[in-house]
Amino acid sequence: MLKLLVTPPAGAQTVVEAQEGLSVMEILRDAGFESLPAFCGGCCSCATCHVYVDPAFADRLPPLSDDEDALLDSAEQRRPGSRLSCQLPFSAALDGLAVEIAPDLG
Ligand code: FES
Repeated sequence: MLKLLVTPPAGAQTVVEAQEGLSVMEILRDAGFESLPAFCGGCCSCATCHVYVDPAFADRLPPLSDDEDALLDSAEQRRPGSRLSCQLPFSAALDGLAVEIAPDLG
């Protein structure tokens, strides 16, 4: 079983099963994290799937696109490690990835 470690805003870290081929956003949505509304459904146009990624995994993630970078600039609470989880396809190389859901989404 592949794992994603998730810390909700003001919550404790939990472990969820992660499936290859889904985005990190889809894994979080399917696991029922209501603090991540992901309003646009993964079209990279809402920034309500904002997460902070463990820097240890930074070199295993796809590079930030110009669109993602611009959306993150418009998002509140941007900080190093910020990514839009809909832009992160999950794979076995990311087993154990730790993400923190950004506060005040939606
Ligand atoms: S779900 Fe809208 S930008 Fe990711």
